[in-house]
Amino acid sequence: SAAEKGGFKHFMLKEIDEIPESIESALVGRFDDDYNPVMHELDEFNIEKIKRILLVACGTSYHAGLVFKYFAEKYLNVDVLIDVASEFRYRPIRIDDETLTIAISQSGETADTLESIRAVKKAGGKVVAISNVVGSTITRESDVTLYMNAGPEIGVAASKTYVNQLILLYTLALYMIKKRNLWTEEHKKIAKQIVSSANLIKKIISNKEIERVSDHYKNYQHFMYIGRGVNTATALEGALKLKEISYINAVGYPAGELKHGPIALLDPTFPVFAIAPKDSLYEKMRSNIEETRARNARILTIATEGDTEIQKISHDVLYVPEVHEDLYPLVIAPVIQLFAYYIADKRGYDPDKPRNLAKSVTVE
Ligand code: G6P
Repeated sequence: SAAEKGGFKHFMLKEIDEIPESIESALVGRFDDDYNPVMHELDEFNIEKIKRILLVACGTSYHAGLVFKYFAEKYLNVDVLIDVASEFRYRPIRIDDETLTIAISQSGETADTLESIRAVKKAGGKVVAISNVVGSTITRESDVTLYMNAGPEIGVAASKTYVNQLILLYTLALYMIKKRNLWTEEHKKIAKQIVSSANLIKKIISNKEIERVSDHYKNYQHFMYIGRGVNTATALEGALKLKEISYINAVGYPAGELKHGPIALLDPTFPVFAIAPKDSLYEKMRSNIEETRARNARILTIATEGDTEIQKISHDVLYVPEVHEDLYPLVIAPVIQLFAYYIADKRGYDPDKPRNLAKSVTVE
């Protein structure tokens, strides 16, 4: 009913609007006054010893895991192997005392993720679950659970829960950094920005440009999202969101792969969504944008506030505030969600109930 939606047209829009408060809930007790990460759930684990992390998840949760991989490998002396659960569970797994498995599942009921956890447990491994649903099967079968505390999410395509997964995964990586005595001022700066991210995101979701710009793209049949580094995950998640609720054939690629195939698709009927914040790969992204421009594709770029230069090579630009370069996935997430939402709505589809999809896939 309209009342349940709190005046919003759809649950998805309401749930995106809830992101700031949802972040605050995820952060309760997570950082002390000096911005040191707190994760008592993991105190029993020998974090200092871990050399290998296995990450397993499906859909949007998999993309959150991908962000963790980039972030953790940058600062921790660990290898992070990530796979979708439907593949992971059928591959041989190597578990030892130096391996930790992290399973991410909003619902805590996804069949393939659950079976992956069972396989790890059977092999003698430890599993940390990240979930939003207290008492769900995955939380019961894992060794410990980090709860997302996002509150119920009704929209089938994940929105606020993706953001909370990111918050927890960044915090988990920072906790490991601290435990392993790798903590620097830079990490404290990242922690500070995470702690204040709710306010920043409040401003981002009120940006009316997102809806206005979406109007230019609602009638296309194809879309290509590109990003680099940690925002490869953002590109994949942006494409997933769009295809889930607007049924546009959206693909996501690490931008460096363009010339290995996908660029052959581009022409004026095939727009590009470039994730190009001011980070250490910015110049590389600019070259990729130029390449897609040469194919006459319409280009929508997400950039850092103040980057007016990028307007010269893009047809539309959506800005996000400057943050630490590793945190762009967090502040861009609501933008790609709102963009997909408006396109689905303008195309006349119900974003809350996409055809053929279920909120939680409990069958194989
Ligand atoms: C379904 C949902 C997605 C979700 C995925 C994984 O496909 O439609 O939004 O990302 O399952 O769900 P989980 O509950 O395991 O995170």
